[in-house]
Amino acid sequence: MKKNNIVLVGGGSTWTPGILKALTTHLEKFPLNQVVLYDIDEKRQEVIGKFGEILFREEAPEVNFIYTTDKEVAYKNVDFVFCQMRTGGYPMREQDEKIPLNFGVVGQETCGPGGFAYGMRSIRDMIEMVQDVRRYSPDAWILNYTNPAAIVALALQKAFPNDKKILNICDQPVNLLRSYGRLISYDYNKFEPRYFGLNHFGWFTNIYDENGNDLAPKIKETVLDGGFRPADAEQRDQSWLDTYAMVETMLNDFPEYLPNTYLQYYLYPEYKTSTLDPNYTRANEVMDGREKKVFGECRSIVEKGTAKDSHVVHNDAHGDMIVEVAASISNNLKQTYIVIVPNNGIVANLPDDVMIEVAASLGINGPQPYSVGHIDTFYKGLIENQHAFEKLTVESYFEGSYTKALQALTLNRTIVDAKKARNILDALIEANKDYWPELK
Ligand code: NAD
Ligand code: G6P
Ligand code: MN
Repeated sequence: MKKNNIVLVGGGSTWTPGILKALTTHLEKFPLNQVVLYDIDEKRQEVIGKFGEILFREEAPEVNFIYTTDKEVAYKNVDFVFCQMRTGGYPMREQDEKIPLNFGVVGQETCGPGGFAYGMRSIRDMIEMVQDVRRYSPDAWILNYTNPAAIVALALQKAFPNDKKILNICDQPVNLLRSYGRLISYDYNKFEPRYFGLNHFGWFTNIYDENGNDLAPKIKETVLDGGFRPADAEQRDQSWLDTYAMVETMLNDFPEYLPNTYLQYYLYPEYKTSTLDPNYTRANEVMDGREKKVFGECRSIVEKGTAKDSHVVHNDAHGDMIVEVAASISNNLKQTYIVIVPNNGIVANLPDDVMIEVAASLGINGPQPYSVGHIDTFYKGLIENQHAFEKLTVESYFEGSYTKALQALTLNRTIVDAKKARNILDALIEANKDYWPELK
């Protein structure tokens, strides 16, 4: 098997230790020659980088591990780019969540106006990343987690329509599959799921077991009987437990398919807004929790000089997914993952250029999505509305158009009212002036 060279863009991310750990546990499936961390924030990355040095020394000394802020060092001779950057960091995430809440609208990093604001920040840096990677490694696969993945995927498709080696992914479907597995005491590795929608806006239609039986009815029944919790509930903050619990509410109202948790913001915007605290949002919870914990753990590992028995990884699913996706592509394993691809007829009654999230077999030639066919009016209506929001957001970015930004926010189910949309847009423009193009 080929020994791969990997670069992690956003090396200082809170999720990097988990990905590094997953790289060391998947070496048999995904052999490595070199792992590089790249970040624009040298200080932030150094903490994680020093942890990585110890981890690789202990678990995989044959792999060359380095961290750098030099693009050429990072992107030269790379086979896979794993990307997870956050333009503006958590302080801007806090604004994305708090500004809408101050107008009585859902404040969430990837949904509604927060997702719009974050998308408008991510696009420029993501385009620059792809250009830089292509300068040094024209054939590398780029696997991207950077959010809002739906808007990033559409923007990259528009900027690089002929680049077939960019794949946007999200770990939430895997988190959900692991949670279904725990719920019905079944090994999630054996699930063969079918799914359709947009990123953070989709549904599981079927979850087959290894004998071809559909377990979705049993999973739905079990949720309706006793509620729903994440697979790693013991490590989750209360806000995530509340989010998973909403799956029961969604199934009560719409029992046909198993919903992605993010649909709660679009189906119950009033209720969700009433439960969110405009003075202490998820960004605060993350800064006080995960960020402190990850960086504190890394520092203490460096002090001790060993990563054995450490607890720096808070969610295995995230690291496992990106490494398994890379392994499936690299070794032509044709395993099924839920990924984001151009529709091109997969959902028969949606336009070709919608970036859909769908189950696909992943091999050496990339994703081969499983056909979905026609979807019913309720889902089609929701998706077309959300896609129009995403498309107008991306067009607003490329054209510097205020009108398209206002149209996007007015279409969004979390807002609806155009006056409200304008007030929120003006406040977001003010907060994002260092990051967005000028909107005229
Ligand atoms: P974080 O702020 O801890 O980490 C992001 C890192 O990116 C920081 O170290 C920052 O300095 C760096 N960065 C910012 N701009 C950069 C650029 N232009 N080039 C290189 N590095 C840059 O954030 P986090 O919470 O760990 O999340 C990282 C990203 O991963 C976010 O976009 C988040 O939304 C995303 N994410 C996505 C999924 C998914 O399902 N798709 C899951 C988890 C996290
Ligand atoms: C899920 C989503 C990601 C999101 C992550 C972390 O896994 O799929 O897109 O980034 O949750 O969210 P948090 O609020 O914990 O930073
Ligand atoms: Mn996601």
